[in-house]
Amino acid sequence: MTANALQVSGLMAGYTAEVDILRGIDLSVAEGEIVTVLGPNGAGKSTLIKTIAGLVPVHGGAVTLFGDSLAGVPAHDMVLRGLAYVPQTHNVFVRLSIQENLEMGAYIQRDKAAVRAGVERMFALFPSLNNRRRQPAGTLSGGERQMVAVARALMAQPRMLMLDEPSAGLSPKLVGIVFDKVHEIRDMGVTILIVEQNAKAALAISDRGYVLAQGQDRISASADELLHNPEVGELYLGVRKGLT
Ligand SMILES: Nc1ncnc2c1ncn2[C@@H]1O[C@H](COP(=O)(O)OP(=O)(O)OP(=O)(O)O)[C@@H](O)[C@H]1O
Ligand SMILES: [Mg+2]
Repeated sequence: MTANALQVSGLMAGYTAEVDILRGIDLSVAEGEIVTVLGPNGAGKSTLIKTIAGLVPVHGGAVTLFGDSLAGVPAHDMVLRGLAYVPQTHNVFVRLSIQENLEMGAYIQRDKAAVRAGVERMFALFPSLNNRRRQPAGTLSGGERQMVAVARALMAQPRMLMLDEPSAGLSPKLVGIVFDKVHEIRDMGVTILIVEQNAKAALAISDRGYVLAQGQDRISASADELLHNPEVGELYLGVRKGLT
């Protein structure tokens, strides 16, 4: 058997029974890989991640995680399967402090000492949050919130982490910092699937990538090939934003 952490085959899914937003997606992420899914607004990137996370009804195809089917697994049990997910928006509890947000991420852990140890590991990974532990997450900058959201997801000690647009709304400097952290997290042994519009920054830390359009995977290649593929650049990458 292959060592794929995630295997998505012919996946069809949609919010209502009548409409398929995902129209047959094939994608895999090997254990220890960082894979990025690119594509224009409305391509179905968030829907793909939400479907894998058990939040959108599957109409066909299959998803397996570490060799086990995720069919019928409710979203709240995904964490028990080793899967954590950071949504595109509303990904922190704004009224709770940074530390409380992290503790929420370990809600399945009953051992208080293990939770405390996990919190300290996260403050070691994100030192800039350490002296603001008591600060409500709603008062943080976009980049800091993103770090809290990622740290909270990691509190469940997932084997696989999915990030939906981790760079959205961040300054170029913060984008670099967040992606450097994502790379560090992979090196800690976590397999990572990223959905992004900031193709350059995401591909720079990725092993491979997919380009999604209209609910189908159109291109699959190494990160390097995608970065240097003029057709991809013109159609889907930075050019679209006119910033690069
Ligand atoms: N909750 C929902 N109910 C019904 N349709 C939805 C819902 N969320 C998204 N859609 C539809 O699914 C399609 C794909 O949306 P999705 O959010 O997956 O795109 P995306 O690639 O993540 O876009 P973006 O880059 O803007 O985040 C769109 O046509 C959108 O209108
Ligand atoms: Mg999206």
